[in-house]
Amino acid sequence: MTDFPVEKIRADFPILQQQIRNKPLVYLDNAATTQKPNCVIDCISDFYRQDYANVHRGVHTLSVRATDQYEGARETVKDFINAQSTKEIVFVKGTTEAINLLAHSYGKSFLKPGDEILITAMEHHSNIVPWQMLCQELGTVLKVAPINLQGELIVEEFEKLITAKTRLVSVVHMSNALGTVNPVKKIIDLAHERNIPVILDGAQAIPHMPVDVQALECDFYVFSGHKLYAPTGVGVLYGKQEILEAMQPYQGGGDMIRKVTFKETEYNNLPYKFEAGTPNIADVVGLGAAIGYLTGVGMDNIARYEAELLAYATDKAKQIEGLRLIGEAHEKGAILSFVLDKVHPHDIGTMLDSLGIAVRAGHHCAMPVMDFFEIPATARASFAMYNTHQEVDVLMDGIKSLIEVFG
Ligand code: ALA
Repeated sequence: MTDFPVEKIRADFPILQQQIRNKPLVYLDNAATTQKPNCVIDCISDFYRQDYANVHRGVHTLSVRATDQYEGARETVKDFINAQSTKEIVFVKGTTEAINLLAHSYGKSFLKPGDEILITAMEHHSNIVPWQMLCQELGTVLKVAPINLQGELIVEEFEKLITAKTRLVSVVHMSNALGTVNPVKKIIDLAHERNIPVILDGAQAIPHMPVDVQALECDFYVFSGHKLYAPTGVGVLYGKQEILEAMQPYQGGGDMIRKVTFKETEYNNLPYKFEAGTPNIADVVGLGAAIGYLTGVGMDNIARYEAELLAYATDKAKQIEGLRLIGEAHEKGAILSFVLDKVHPHDIGTMLDSLGIAVRAGHHCAMPVMDFFEIPATARASFAMYNTHQEVDVLMDGIKSLIEVFG
């Protein structure tokens, strides 16, 4: 995609302009977190310098300005994922908190002992552990749909695991360890035919592709700001209004109430029912700025450019003797997980760092995926819209040089 303005985009990210170990930084750890453009950094700094106050609580000018910007960001998120209403957009700390909220609130509102929750074998720990905790507490049962050696969900097995007791499906949209993009529309249709609600963990998918929650018809979609070029500590729980209305709150406190007496409490309207306490105001505003930036670039353009970058990187990686790709799904996002015959992933990470290249080495918070492939860890290069073909070349040359060193 020759017309993608990658150099212009790079110029908006000050952190990318530096040298690491006397080499130009090649930042390929975007699945862990993305860097921030000037407009996000400036927006947060301007907000604290000019407009900061608490939201929803004051009549004074600053509080009104802060509230307008905070609620403006909710409007921006709503449009970005095409939700029906801002009532369906709950601000949380991130994907992990969103799933914990659902396990707690949805679980305790609607699930009972013996009910089954269906996930897949490629989930991040954040879409496993909250359900295990709920199962221990409530006596619900966790079922896991298997994957194949390409790292794809085996949809027929997934379908077989849907039983009369399945009450909830929670599936990752794009795997952080493998890059696999799941056939989520198919999964949702299979579940909905049996009236089972579906949660999509969109932490990895959201920065790489357009997401339309109404087209998907998912019941919940969760994601973090920090993987979307926005600050840490802010994320989104999208939920269909009628389900959120029926759910119990997650935390109690200020802002989530309409009336409190010592006898009883009346809860606030959506989405505030799920936003107890002073929220992460400035970072929500920063999330709005990040989404504004992405909308300017165009999610379709980003998806096309990154697909090209991934194809280029995959082709080059396959030419390296002794390199094994982990995750070769047909539908894949811009993640290259790999192992080398003679080099431990942590040594790959350290050696590449000495060349100015940032990749992640480890189990990527997906230990069951590592167990499935019978490896302790992988090295993972994960790409973003600001990475270039030339950076892929630098990575591949780096891998080849460390293979030579380790013989
Ligand atoms: N979940 C993040 C990753 O995949 C931290 O690196």
